[in-house]
Amino acid sequence: MAQRLDSAGLSFRQDYFADPAGWSALVRLLQDIFGIDIGPLKQLGGPDPTSMPFGWFDAKGELAANISAFALPFVINGRNVHAAGLQSGAVRPPWRGRGLYRDLTVKALDWCDRQGFEAVILYTDKPSLYEPYGFRSIPLHRYEGIAPAASSALRPARLLTPTDPDDLALLQSLLKGRSPVSNSLAVSNNAAMFLINTRLDPDVRISFLQDQQTAIAWKTDESGRFGLIDVVATEIPPLAMILGGLEVAPTSIDVFFRPDRLDWDGVPHPFESGTVLMVRGLGDTSVDFPAMLSPMADF
Ligand SMILES: CC(C)(COP(=O)(O)OP(=O)(O)OC[C@H]1O[C@@H](n2cnc3c(N)ncnc32)[C@H](O)[C@@H]1OP(=O)(O)O)[C@@H](O)C(=O)NCCC(=O)NCCS
Repeated sequence: MAQRLDSAGLSFRQDYFADPAGWSALVRLLQDIFGIDIGPLKQLGGPDPTSMPFGWFDAKGELAANISAFALPFVINGRNVHAAGLQSGAVRPPWRGRGLYRDLTVKALDWCDRQGFEAVILYTDKPSLYEPYGFRSIPLHRYEGIAPAASSALRPARLLTPTDPDDLALLQSLLKGRSPVSNSLAVSNNAAMFLINTRLDPDVRISFLQDQQTAIAWKTDESGRFGLIDVVATEIPPLAMILGGLEVAPTSIDVFFRPDRLDWDGVPHPFESGTVLMVRGLGDTSVDFPAMLSPMADF
């Protein structure tokens, strides 16, 4: 039996990011539901051009419900996957329980299937919401270990400010030409997510190693512990060279992706963040080694 959908008073639209009113309605929805401001994306090159939003709008032009699909190619176990991501899934409280989210999820997944994506991935704190559609959770692991001795850098890194037009252009060009930060699990292309995540987490620093043409996303926590979050480059430099360029000499280090391209070993630990990564498709493929997607790819 078909499940109930009550969309009285609402109109369905898709593909509305080029419409300023549609985009603003999404910015307000995500601010109201998640307390996240994606407005600055407009100054950071705009939303991912592959985005395909699906939504129910009320008579005043507010989004009652939204889910957005976008191309998110990634690598798993050395294999390139032509995948889509789903993000920005939310329904305003007065409109919940009417089947709007189920309706949008089905529409978005149908679109992904018609586009020929072989897999769909998402992050959620409500995995049971997506299991009926064939999504399954992938366990995530960060790596922890003794830092290598920093190798002396030719030239020290300089901090990039993504809101500065020159720095933004540099970052965009590095993101365009990047190779996956890990062969186990990594996104191949995620410029928009990387850029907005530099705004959403004010503790993340982006440093540029000129000699290696590499951008490093990193942070130190309250106790001064060093965390390596992402490395954007065509050739991933060894960790010792990264530390040398950043002119830091931590004793221990956390790496938030599998460090198989860093010439360094750490010990995997489950990564708990309150959300899980789920995948639909790819049969029963699992990650061969403990791994996670860089938090700069969070979406
Ligand atoms: C979760 C949320 C999107 C559900 O919206 P909704 O319009 O009430 O959902 P629907 O009426 O379309 O229900 C769809 C299905 O989800 C189930 N569901 C609803 N809320 C759920 C929850 N919190 N956890 C698990 N399942 C849930 C419903 O029972 C229904 O199941 P059915 O298809 O078997 O009948 C909405 O409550 C919301 O925006 N919450 C805050 C933001 C959020 O959590 N977003 C999704 C996280 S990625």
